[in-house]
Amino acid sequence: MKTRELGRQGPEVSVIGLGAWPIGGGMGVVDAAVAISTVRSAIDAGITLLDTAQAYRTSESTLGRALGDGYRDRCFLATKVSSDYSPTGIRTAMDNSLRALGVDHVDLYQVHSWRADVYPIESTMETMARLQEEGKTRFIGVSNFNAEQMSQAYGVAPFHSSQPRYNMIDRHIEPTDLPFCEQRGIGNLVHSPLAKGLLTGKYRADHVFPDEDERSGFPRFQGKQFAAYMQLGDRLREVAHDVGCTMVQLAIAWCLRQPAVNCVLVGAKSPSQVADYVPAADIELSADELARLDQILAGAPVD
Ligand SMILES: NC(=O)c1ccc[n+]([C@@H]2O[C@H](COP(=O)([O-])OP(=O)(O)OC[C@H]3O[C@@H](n4cnc5c(N)ncnc54)[C@H](OP(=O)(O)O)[C@@H]3O)[C@@H](O)[C@H]2O)c1
Repeated sequence: MKTRELGRQGPEVSVIGLGAWPIGGGMGVVDAAVAISTVRSAIDAGITLLDTAQAYRTSESTLGRALGDGYRDRCFLATKVSSDYSPTGIRTAMDNSLRALGVDHVDLYQVHSWRADVYPIESTMETMARLQEEGKTRFIGVSNFNAEQMSQAYGVAPFHSSQPRYNMIDRHIEPTDLPFCEQRGIGNLVHSPLAKGLLTGKYRADHVFPDEDERSGFPRFQGKQFAAYMQLGDRLREVAHDVGCTMVQLAIAWCLRQPAVNCVLVGAKSPSQVADYVPAADIELSADELARLDQILAGAPVD
């Protein structure tokens, strides 16, 4: 598995990371034994970065079970505080995460989203910095912050990484946020690279997601809008075929074409999904292939 430095003078991490939201049950029920073997298969395949969060239902405790037998020492473990960003809220969330994960520290602790309207960014970032000083986390980071918000947070406590959404149909970080990170030496681990399944090529327009799957509530996964994304998928499938890879691999390799993207976090529900996407780390798309993709993506549905 290839690695990249996460941020300037940061740790080397695998270019593909395991996103642990699906094993928490957020995209449909996943059997606990399957979840554990999914995590271990990812680490055995060379994935070092694992990403979870306070809000990911049973994800942290399942990860805690998967990381026994020496697996913890083989990975860079990232989690997030997800709801209450007051100093007490952050400290409580950290202690609960450490307990659920069965570890005495994590490698990266992230603020899940921008909520400075409720919790002043100064106290949020100061508390994150204190946790780093105390050794509860090696690095701190933010998630879903834009450049202006990152700039404010960085002014309080220089942080190491950003976790934005990024995929073929969500490219909002390209003009400003990625260049901002590059300039500051902030690393990027990007989430939802498969657009939560829209870019896997396996769904048909009449697919209905079960109630317990978050996608049952997302407009992108319903009716005409979903059908339009499936049509886009048909065109992407042709490119994947010509490149000689799966659509999932194409979507990941496309994110990795950006040098400022250090790690692509991909969710998985089974060892076979992991095995399918790991080869994407070695795919380099040519300038012609990227230009063809850009042309197709210019016609992507607008939400
Ligand atoms: N910071 C944030 O706010 C935020 C938000 C979202 C995600 N994240 C992080 O980013 C990670 C990735 O995002 P995500 O998991 O939401 O979505 P994603 O990676 O875009 O999609 C994951 C889903 O795609 C399907 N899939 C995966 N591999 C596949 C394969 N080889 N073949 C076919 N289908 C495959 C699986 O669902 P099905 O089989 O059911 O289709 C899987 O649950 C998360 O797990 C989480 O760690 C962070």
